[in-house]
Amino acid sequence: MMDVDATCLEAAARAVRENAHAPYSRFRVGAAIRAASGRIYAGCNVENASYPEGTCAEAGAIAAMVAAGDTEIAEVLVIADAPGPVAPCGGCRQRLSEFAGPDVPVTLANLRGDTRTVSMAELLPGAFVKSDLPRD
Ligand code: THU
Repeated sequence: MMDVDATCLEAAARAVRENAHAPYSRFRVGAAIRAASGRIYAGCNVENASYPEGTCAEAGAIAAMVAAGDTEIAEVLVIADAPGPVAPCGGCRQRLSEFAGPDVPVTLANLRGDTRTVSMAELLPGAFVKSDLPRD
């Protein structure tokens, strides 16, 4: 059973997934982010004939969030038509960790209602973060 916030994120992620451009993999993904401001941002995967130029759903949601002026993620939900709750790719785990602290809940979901909620720290243990960079 998901809480109210996750249910709202799920609706946003399910809806945006319908717009995914995935003619090559046929694997449509939707992602929704609730920012600390309370605003919700959604993104879908956008593939390209030049395969490596495709972008993931999480990247789209993050871009929408940053473009709107939010930089702090409070909660994330990712959904796809997968046999179990979909696993975000490694690159997207890193992208999310730029804006989501270790305790931020990330709900992985599929279309038939299976969900698994993990923390950002569980999703990307030992994340490479800003403080790992040398200062000038
Ligand atoms: N995909 C995402 O959008 N997010 C993920 O975290 C996993 C993979 C997309 C990329 C590609 O368009 C399709 O799923 C198949 O890999």
